[in-house]
Amino acid sequence: MDLRDKHIVLGLTGGVACYKAAELCRGLLKEGATVQVVMTEAACRFITPVTMQALSGRPVFTSQWDDREANNMPHINLAREADMILLAPCSADFIARLAQGRADELLSLMCLARPAARVPLLLAPAMNREMWSHPATQRNLQQVVADGATVLGVGHGDQACGETGDGRMLEPDEILQDVIAALQAPSLRGRHVLVTAGPTYEAIDPVRGITNLSSGKMGYAVARAAREAGARVTLVSGPVSLPAPRGVARISVRSAREMHQATLAEAPAADVFIATAAVADWRVANAAQQKIKKDGSGAAPALQFEENPDILADVARSDRARSGALLCVGFAAESEDLLANAQAKRLRKGVPLLVGNLGPATFGQDDNALLLVSEQGVEELARDSKLALARRLVARCASMLDGGRIHAG
Ligand code: CTP
Repeated sequence: MDLRDKHIVLGLTGGVACYKAAELCRGLLKEGATVQVVMTEAACRFITPVTMQALSGRPVFTSQWDDREANNMPHINLAREADMILLAPCSADFIARLAQGRADELLSLMCLARPAARVPLLLAPAMNREMWSHPATQRNLQQVVADGATVLGVGHGDQACGETGDGRMLEPDEILQDVIAALQAPSLRGRHVLVTAGPTYEAIDPVRGITNLSSGKMGYAVARAAREAGARVTLVSGPVSLPAPRGVARISVRSAREMHQATLAEAPAADVFIATAAVADWRVANAAQQKIKKDGSGAAPALQFEENPDILADVARSDRARSGALLCVGFAAESEDLLANAQAKRLRKGVPLLVGNLGPATFGQDDNALLLVSEQGVEELARDSKLALARRLVARCASMLDGGRIHAG
């Protein structure tokens, strides 16, 4: 539960997307948050406070004159208690109100009274595409961002008005991911993180190939955690069935050589390279152009193998990695003797940090246990979800970058 102990004020303004706010409210609760709903008069025309009260388990606030609060100041109390104010959907009119600092109804009044240094304000806009692209809306958005709000962006697609374009509210799950990300420490802000993930696939013929059991989950969790920490993230991924984490640029590849090429092209712009991919060590040297047929003799095809390039070792050998401008992190998937193998592999690959894990115990699972091996020593990260472990790994990378301790040693 990524929002345990977090209290979120969910503000609804007028728009058809209010129906998605019900699902969003449930998602926030599922992640452990408490949710206080505040609605404008227009929002109450699209979805009732009854529904939002039933889902959130708390009476909804709709008026600045609500006298349920002992001091009669709901706008102050609601903003003070919050860990975050989330406006979803946020209408064009409400963005204009925020830009102007209006305060003549509860929700805008509360946003103005927000303790800005402590309580982030996130907006999920929702409107027709013409309204979204109108210079007035774009001007107002720039102003609210300059005033300290975070705008989550909009989706693209069919709109309730029958048009197609930008302006739809993001899906509840996308907003939820952004909310969770906004509450993480921005330890990699301004950095570029490059991650390889998943298995590779080495063709035998056009319909057969050699691959491995890597699901990509650990690498995708690392990419997500780096993104949450504020980094720009490029994910070079072998064939997996996972969606790209939000805000992460994915480059899809198949073979080890494709992964090598894509990674080396990106590495010169990266500050951190984390190699989680389970790269095939060998490819088939005599892959057939057409499907290999049985010839009736019972003889198996004679496959020959040649070694694939070592992506991590090649990046770690670059001038930028050797000078400390690029922090390289390797993973070791072992089946036995984890510590000794991980320590040996760190030195062999020439990387400052090597993350050991037991391959058979982790492939395809949602959790894992890691061993962080560096020049400074060994740190054991006990079994936890891959995302929780990825966040700790990212924090470790951030502190190595900040401390300048990124030499292979
Ligand atoms: N790796 C890589 N390119 C390869 C092979 C491995 O980038 N051709 C990276 C992996 O992504 C991982 C690290 O190197 O970060 C170690 O991978 P692993 O398969 O455990 O090690 P190998 O070098 O293949 O050693 P061995 O199979 O002998 O254990």
